[in-house]
Amino acid sequence: MTANLTARPHLPPDLVADRMPRHVAVIMDGNGRWAKKRGRPRIMGHKRGVDTLKTLLRCCDDWGIGALTAYAFSTENWGRPNDEVEFLMVLFERVLRRELAELMNENVRIRFVGNLQALPLSLQGEIERAMADTAANTGIQFTVATNYGGRQEIIQACQAIAHQIKRGELEPEEIDESLFEQNLYTQGLEDPDLLIRTSGEMRISNFLLWQLAYAEMYITDTLWPDFDHGEFHRALVSFQQRHRRFGKL
Ligand code: FPP
Repeated sequence: MTANLTARPHLPPDLVADRMPRHVAVIMDGNGRWAKKRGRPRIMGHKRGVDTLKTLLRCCDDWGIGALTAYAFSTENWGRPNDEVEFLMVLFERVLRRELAELMNENVRIRFVGNLQALPLSLQGEIERAMADTAANTGIQFTVATNYGGRQEIIQACQAIAHQIKRGELEPEEIDESLFEQNLYTQGLEDPDLLIRTSGEMRISNFLLWQLAYAEMYITDTLWPDFDHGEFHRALVSFQQRHRRFGKL
């Protein structure tokens, strides 16, 4: 038996354990189209999307990927019809309440990033509870970007740094990448190595603008609710075939 299989019993044999991404980010696109294709309301697509996300989280954990970040709701998504926005807020809350015990069982650390103060108070309560309860877990780091916008994150980091300078705690010359990162929502989380976007759109859509600087991108036409183990496996094979140069030769 190879060292690879010994380390991760579930890892498909064509994936190399020590070349797995450490952090995968996903733009879960295509829920609405998935539902429309079946003559169902868009919200059914979001419900199925939650199942896909759960499968992916478990798969990352099984295959030795230490962090997963999912784009659940962007600052632009408030522009959707009210009933869809309301459904999504209730869905997030319900999922958190329903899955918290399972997250604890599986040793997952969950964290929400974004402008959380603008979310419904009851959802904020569930978020705080889930983050506090799972904070000491040592397994996969699961980050959910909710009411998240990359530009807004960068602006709030600039404001936080400006306040530190104003208070005399910092000199402008001390600003470097590391200090900047400490002021982002994702502070302490390493940058994603792989960004997956489903449903074929070739855009970043204001997701992790700073953090994705050197991520490999994998875009598939598959709609999010259909993104299964096999699809994820294909994304990882593609990732492992890439030669990451980080701007060097
Ligand atoms: C994009 O598809 C999907 C969303 C805006 C919502 C994704 C949210 C989830 C799957 C729930 C996650 C829940 C938790 C608690 C982590 P779309 O509606 O833009 O699809 P379309 O492009 O086909 O219209």
